[in-house]
Amino acid sequence: MKPNKLIRLLFILLVVVVLTAAPASRSNSERTQSFDKQIDALLAKMTLAEKLGQLQQLDGEGNGNFRPEHVELVRKGLLGSTLNVRGAQRTNQLQRIAVEGSRLKIPLIFGFDVIHGYRTVFPIPLGEAASWDPAGVERAAGIAAAESRAAGVHWTFAPMVDIARDPRWGRIAEGSGEDPYLGSALARARVRGFQGSDYSAPDKVVACAKHWVAYGAAEAGRDYNTTDVSERNLREVYFPPFKAAVDAGVGTFMSAFNNLNGVPASANPFTLTEVLRNEWKFDGFVVSDYTSVQELIKHGLAANGADAAREALNAGVDMEMVSRLYNQHAGELMKGRQLSQQTIDEAVRRILRIKFRLGLFAKPYVDEGLERGAIFNATNVAAARELAARSLVLLKNDNNVLPLNKSIRSIALVGPLADSHKDVLGSWTGDGRPEDAVTLRAGLTSKAPQTKINYAKGCDIDCGKRDAFEEAVSAARVSDVVIIAVGESAEMSGEAASRSSIDLPGLQLELVKAVQAAGKPTVVVLMNGRPLTINWMAENTPALLETWFAGSQAGNAIADVLFGDVNPGGKLPVTFPRAVGQIPIYYNHMNTGRPPDASNKYSSKYLDVPWTPLFPFGYGLSYTKFRIANLQLGAQSIRPDGSLTVNVELENAGSRAGEEVVQLYIRDVAASVTRPVKELKGFQRVTLQPGEKRRVEFKLTPEHLGFYNRRMKFVVEPGEFKVMVGPNSVDVIESSFQVTAP
Ligand code: NOJ
Repeated sequence: MKPNKLIRLLFILLVVVVLTAAPASRSNSERTQSFDKQIDALLAKMTLAEKLGQLQQLDGEGNGNFRPEHVELVRKGLLGSTLNVRGAQRTNQLQRIAVEGSRLKIPLIFGFDVIHGYRTVFPIPLGEAASWDPAGVERAAGIAAAESRAAGVHWTFAPMVDIARDPRWGRIAEGSGEDPYLGSALARARVRGFQGSDYSAPDKVVACAKHWVAYGAAEAGRDYNTTDVSERNLREVYFPPFKAAVDAGVGTFMSAFNNLNGVPASANPFTLTEVLRNEWKFDGFVVSDYTSVQELIKHGLAANGADAAREALNAGVDMEMVSRLYNQHAGELMKGRQLSQQTIDEAVRRILRIKFRLGLFAKPYVDEGLERGAIFNATNVAAARELAARSLVLLKNDNNVLPLNKSIRSIALVGPLADSHKDVLGSWTGDGRPEDAVTLRAGLTSKAPQTKINYAKGCDIDCGKRDAFEEAVSAARVSDVVIIAVGESAEMSGEAASRSSIDLPGLQLELVKAVQAAGKPTVVVLMNGRPLTINWMAENTPALLETWFAGSQAGNAIADVLFGDVNPGGKLPVTFPRAVGQIPIYYNHMNTGRPPDASNKYSSKYLDVPWTPLFPFGYGLSYTKFRIANLQLGAQSIRPDGSLTVNVELENAGSRAGEEVVQLYIRDVAASVTRPVKELKGFQRVTLQPGEKRRVEFKLTPEHLGFYNRRMKFVVEPGEFKVMVGPNSVDVIESSFQVTAP
């Protein structure tokens, strides 16, 4: 090779090495550091009023406009953030005032509740969780992020990672259900989807893990109610999804409304500083929930506004949402030495850090041409349909009523939810529009255009009257098959939507009974934001499909499953009780000294209802039949720091391709503190063709086997462990192994 050729080659090689190494060498900590210098420079120039401005978030108008009275605050550098302001043009307009009109040119951060989609609405988070498909959930969050950022939104108040074991609590709809392991997997997936590896990208937003913490433990399932949770339960049940979010790099946290063990979560130094900052090294910022700083007065923790500001700031809440107590009282608190300059500066620093990481100083405006193509495009809509179909759970299918044959001549379509655009979107619909939503009626019509759909609503959601039942019954009589869509309206779950009864509302069950009495093959399609008590249907209705609120593409996705174009594979992320009186009921409970025993009165059970759930955690059927067999462990014993492979054989023993979620549970049989009867420690959603067999492998590591001992130290203790694998949390096959002494 000629020398100049060699030099050219070496040069090219060098360029390639530098280019590929460059992104990796810009590690997160280096980026933080360089921002820190710029933040120092800004802090040195800021007045106290400007600093307090950064700590303030105010609400825009419901329609996405900013409030005219906020313009002056922005110009003076007295407002750091808004919520609900959205739309490329509007956000740019307000941003221009911050960046070009204010003294220090610090950009605003625009926050919005993008919970399960911006304009393209995916299933409610509880529904997404039923897919047991972290990759699909990550993709949905990615699409929501791209749509949001194109509309000028930088920051979503999601993921909501509250564990909820009480279906009376309406906000169970917004989370991933009852299990910390599944909840953690989905927390990671959502943070990755929203933020990507660098949330300064034009299609990413910064995420917010909320509501820190134990908000889902509200007493009696009543929203905003008090919680009292032991440190063990916090660490083992409520913290893990938040920790998973931190490990995935989440940029912000939201402090919750609830009182927690006597110290409200929005002023709790243990959770906000000791755990979040000191143990977990979280370096983003914490925003309060809506007026939760001011609510410290009603909680009885603060006597007045100054007290409330002092408690929240000193505990570690950096930004105040909507109430304005930091701005009103921080000056006087500092004079009285109740609040230090350092606390204020640190809060400002954390907020500016996230603004830098979002790239807002370098690129404060959004490209207004992006919005149209990025939002609600065909790719996004197709992804919503796919995830919606994957989130449906087949609860019952006697005599293979489902799937329906596309050549059936007529369907009676009945029920208050059969043609509702608004309800299928669920609560928190972002910028979603009812007119975008495909109802079940529309989905069936386009799936089977030659089938006659005899639609009769029967009654409204509240179903107070029987007047229109007869029309529905007549439709059933003249049709080959009956589909009844019943459940809750969108407003019956979500925030401030707790229910003391989780039955079907009003006379809806009577409607089901009347229509079913026509004697036709009947399918009930459930739409709801929480588990419902559906005992009669579980017993008497041939087929039951749980569809949650499946989003913009609900009707198409449900039709895909009803007609077998998609074989259902979703599983319950939460236990369905038989009666409200069983609540809280969850699969990973303790054994007690007297576990339920039908032959022993003096065991832990009820006189009037079985102790078992109606449908257990992890449950869901398929149109094909799966077998799980031949459980093998990699070893009979391991050391406490060792790991173990677990594998089973999964077979599709039916005649259709399908998907099974193989679930791995463990039990630490005897330990220095009692352990749950089962704990999920692995799952895989696997697709198999008819007749296909595959080994499914899991790995158990100390992280899975450990727990917090009596000193709150995370340990793996020697002794016997049971391993259970199955298609749900009840129908498992078992084996066991030993952890030996170290
Ligand atoms: C109150 C809710 O609790 C929270 O989840 C939400 O993000 C804020 N409001 C902002 O809308």
